[in-house]
Amino acid sequence: MKLRVFDSEQDAASACAAHLAEAVRARPSAVLGLPTGRTPLNVYRELVALASRGALDLSRASTFNLDEFFGIPPDDAGSFRSYMERHFFQHVNLPREHIHFLDGSAQDADAECARYDAELAAAGGLDLVLLGIGGNGHIAFNEPGDSLLAPCHRVRLGRETRQANAALFGDDATRVPLEALTLGMAAILQARRVVLLAFGEGKAGAVSAMVRGPVTPRCPASFLQLHRDVEVWLDPMASQQTQ
Ligand code: GLP
Repeated sequence: MKLRVFDSEQDAASACAAHLAEAVRARPSAVLGLPTGRTPLNVYRELVALASRGALDLSRASTFNLDEFFGIPPDDAGSFRSYMERHFFQHVNLPREHIHFLDGSAQDADAECARYDAELAAAGGLDLVLLGIGGNGHIAFNEPGDSLLAPCHRVRLGRETRQANAALFGDDATRVPLEALTLGMAAILQARRVVLLAFGEGKAGAVSAMVRGPVTPRCPASFLQLHRDVEVWLDPMASQQTQ
């Protein structure tokens, strides 16, 4: 794992957007894994700015989002699909048919997960995945527990995770869906490159467990220690327990 501490969250976000843009320049048909949450917001803003200046062409790229709430339709204002439309998809030249998303309104969760894993396999897997990290060490919606799952799967969200996602539902954690669909650990660990961003004091403990702790399902992000190309980009607050 390569750790890099930036002077500020904004500096890390700008560098991350430049890094993604460079990956797409090097391989215009790149397959990107994309997260939601507060952490990547500035990255999406910077990518949109690059695209509007003609410095990023996504016309041949494809994206797979990491996860989605289960039990709400894609056009629900709280869905991750809506978040992505608002902050990124609407503003760039990524063809609609190149956008891949889990459908939280699917009747059969297992079939939906199998479809998504098959689509990702057909695309050749992820060239680069951008990740955030939950305060409890989750990546995508792979929550801490006694074990982890390799394939895409349905997951029950922990209280802390629902609280962390309350902003999408009018700051009311009780409105956050109880379940989600998520890419499993295999898709993430098989990505050719990983960039994980973490900002703020609230992430310091999870970052330290990920980087310095044992590889354990109690901290799903710790499995990234087994991957050979992981960049962990932090602001000073998130890095304070790694020294
Ligand atoms: C969410 C998402 C994750 C994200 C994490 C951190 O629950 N499923 O993909 O990385 O929590 O969110 P934030 O960036 O808002 O702290």
